[in-house]
Amino acid sequence: MRIISIINQKGGCGKTTTAINLGACLADFRKRVLVVDLDPQAHATLGFGINPGEYRLSVYDLLLGRDDVGERTRDVIINLNEHLDLIPSDVMLSTAEPVLLQRDRREYFLADMLNTLLEQYDFIIIDCPPNIGVLTFNALHACSEAIIPMESGLFALHGLAKLIETIHLVNQKKPVPTAISALATMYDRRTRIASESLEELRSHMHGRVFRTVISLNVKLKEAAGYGQTILEYDRNSSGAKDYLALTREVLSMKKLKKAKTQDDVRFLRPVITKDGVLFTYYSPKASQVHVVADFNNWKVGQLPMENVEGTGMWQRLVPLKRGKYEYKFFVDGQWLNDPDNPNKAATEYGENSTIEID
Ligand SMILES: Nc1ncnc2c1ncn2[C@@H]1O[C@H](COP(=O)(O)OP(=O)(O)O)[C@@H](O)[C@H]1O
Ligand SMILES: [Mg+2]
Repeated sequence: MRIISIINQKGGCGKTTTAINLGACLADFRKRVLVVDLDPQAHATLGFGINPGEYRLSVYDLLLGRDDVGERTRDVIINLNEHLDLIPSDVMLSTAEPVLLQRDRREYFLADMLNTLLEQYDFIIIDCPPNIGVLTFNALHACSEAIIPMESGLFALHGLAKLIETIHLVNQKKPVPTAISALATMYDRRTRIASESLEELRSHMHGRVFRTVISLNVKLKEAAGYGQTILEYDRNSSGAKDYLALTREVLSMKKLKKAKTQDDVRFLRPVITKDGVLFTYYSPKASQVHVVADFNNWKVGQLPMENVEGTGMWQRLVPLKRGKYEYKFFVDGQWLNDPDNPNKAATEYGENSTIEID
């Protein structure tokens, strides 16, 4: 039994398309699948051809009416085909957030509800809303794995870092941490930026990126518009082939790669790009961070890092030629090694972080 959240606080990156079509393809492989639409916009519900509101009950009723959860769940589930079920959403879900915030254990409602269904399914796929709020926290507490769709060519890596940090925080409260994999979506094979950004993503994620890449395919958009899965709309499309390949890849892993330790979840380190080295240091509390290194003669104050969109993710791109360099971060007056980089060199004062460009 695997519960997979499809999660990214960015809208339009392919979450819903992935939830619908991964769900449909898993069912096509004769797995028993439940898709939970956890987005008040109800795009997954619509994408399966269900009019939100056509059914009297939705995920909203399940999250808010807890007393007789077991009874209600059966009433809410819509049977789409022999192997595929849906818990629909509706716009009322947007009003659930303030109500849930008032309650105890507000982050565990979905987990409690899904607990009553574990026997009935092989896979539960949760389509998350485009923000990190109480609904997303519910998804993170309920799931065993998370797939992060990333729109190719536009990878917002600081947004990704923030999301991973959030998952990491929730993981500290979970007996078994959520395993994470990124999925490149809307990949345009004709452009160089797509392949370059994919490489950058693989580097950032230490390989925790699906081998399968979802190409740009207008049939996926059309299918959603017609309220059909890609298998129903055009089984021979490249979109169908990509989602079937993704499904095989998901099935081939017992579980998405599991983070062994909490440190393993941290994935940042200097990334070598074609424009230079992207240094990153995470600290929401810091008020000033600089890169200090042998390549600037250890001068403090020369290379300030930017707090990207106030996320606490400090970054600085430094154009560097081939070679091996030593560096540290100067954080509010303190000299620190890069916690995300295991490479170090001993010096007379202790250790420095190192990076090699070849
Ligand atoms: N691989 C793709 N090729 C073409 N269009 C896509 C693809 N994936 C998603 N889309 C379209 O892009 C838009 C946003 O995708 P969606 O899955 O709804 O994103 P999200 O749920 O993250 O907001 C939708 O119109 C969808 O049909
Ligand atoms: Mg969506």
